[in-house]
Amino acid sequence: MNTFTRTMFLSVLLTTFVANATDLPKTNLHWTMLTKVNPNGLALWDITNNATGNDGLIDAKLVKTEDWARLVEIGKALEEGGKALSSSAGVVVAAPGSKLQDEDNPGASTAADVQRYLDARPAEFRKHAQQLQRTGAKVIQSAKARDTKTLGEVANSLDAVCEDCHVIFWYPQQQK
Ligand code: HEC
Repeated sequence: MNTFTRTMFLSVLLTTFVANATDLPKTNLHWTMLTKVNPNGLALWDITNNATGNDGLIDAKLVKTEDWARLVEIGKALEEGGKALSSSAGVVVAAPGSKLQDEDNPGASTAADVQRYLDARPAEFRKHAQQLQRTGAKVIQSAKARDTKTLGEVANSLDAVCEDCHVIFWYPQQQK
C-alpha cells in the first residue's frame, strides 16, 4: 500500500467508525417482545399459577425449589427488557419486512402504524417500559426473599403492565 491508498483506507475506516458511533443502536421492540418479555411473562405466570392454592394465594410449598432460581432469571429478563425499551437511543418497532402478530386481520396495526404511535408519544412509552423494568426488579426481590405474598401481587399486576402499554401503542383502535 502506498501512502495515498493507506490514507484513503484509513479515512474510509474512520468514516465507517464515526457513522456507527453516532448511529447508536436502537432497541428492536418486536424482537424484545418475542425473545424476552413474552416468554418470561408466560414463564412467570406458569410458575405462579401452578403454585396458587385454593385460597388464591401462592403457597411456598407448591413452588419447586428450582423455580425460585428461575424466578430470579425471569425477573432479570423482564427488567432488562423494560430497561432496553426505556433507555435506548430510540426504539424501532420491527426489522423491515417483519410482520406483527395478527397484522393481517382487518383493522390491525402494522409495524409502521406502531412506529407512528411510538414516535408521537415517546415519554408515555418510556413510562410504561419503566413500569415493566420495575416489575421485573420486584420479581427478583420477592423471589430472592421467597416472599410469596409480594410475588403473587407482582404476578397479578404484570398483566396490566403489558395491557396498559399494548392498548396505547399496539391496538389503540380497540380503545373505546
Ligand atoms: C412499554 C410497552 C410494552 C409493554 C410493557 C409490553 N409490551 Fe408487548 N408489545 C408492545 C407493542 C408496542 C407491541 C406491538 C409491536 C409488536 O407486535 O412487536 C407489542 C407486542 C407484543 C406481542 C406480539 C408480538 C408479535 O408477534 O407481533 C406479544 C406476544 C407481547 N407484546 C407480549 C407482552 C407481554 C406478555 C408483556 C408483559 C409481560 C408485554 N408485551 C409488555 C409494547 C409493550
